Amino acid sequence: MKPLAAGNWKMNGLKASVSEINALKDSLDGAAPACDVMICPPATLVLPLADAAAGSAVQIGAQDCHTAVSGAHTGDISAAMLKDAGAAAVIVGHSERRADHGETSELVKTKAEAAIAAGLTAIVCLGETLAEREAGDTLSVVHAQLNGSLPGGATGATTVIAYEPVWAIGSGLTPTADQVAEVHQAIRAGLSALTSAEEAHSIRILYGGSVKPSNAAELMAIDNVDGALVGGASLAADDFAGIIAAF
Ligand code: 13P
Repeated sequence: MKPLAAGNWKMNGLKASVSEINALKDSLDGAAPACDVMICPPATLVLPLADAAAGSAVQIGAQDCHTAVSGAHTGDISAAMLKDAGAAAVIVGHSERRADHGETSELVKTKAEAAIAAGLTAIVCLGETLAEREAGDTLSVVHAQLNGSLPGGATGATTVIAYEPVWAIGSGLTPTADQVAEVHQAIRAGLSALTSAEEAHSIRILYGGSVKPSNAAELMAIDNVDGALVGGASLAADDFAGIIAAF
């Protein structure tokens, strides 16, 4: 399967950030990247970035959506609106949403299903905290999140999983290659049990957490790692291009 390098801009970016998409497009110009390339900006920038990226190898995704198509939900944005603005995918269940907004796996699953119903790819995030890892609970936590959050009927075309250990996000720390391999293998096995062996092998499993140009090649070479979900190092086109070049 073709790997995916996705950038999650989180709550960063203003109109002027369109220049980063232009720079990213320029850096990819001429050489087709070995991976799919996506930037997920805040909702305010989905439309201008989708316009700027049109016709290039860069796809635009979004961050989070409501479970409903429309209605009385002040401040929320539906998957249909994100699709209408030009998004191809949406991140759901990021640990920052699980922590800041108390999102449960049950809610994440409903959001993922709403995203897919709107024609978006759902990028479903999972990952243990440091306390959970130190307690030896990593695999049980990740399994519970996968079981609870995976949208019904998930396929490789509709769903991407992102394994992001909470303690590796924004910390500069990364798990060892063995630790990443163990969790990604467990997620693949979990997907086999929840879907079918064939679908399980078509669903991309991204690694996220302090991915940067200097460690991307090593992380992306690990078995069952089908791409990266990148935070800080996706904000500047140069850094993100360095990660894309590692595929
Ligand atoms: P960093 O790459 O900044 O660690 O963030 C990872 C992340 O949370 C992407 O969703």
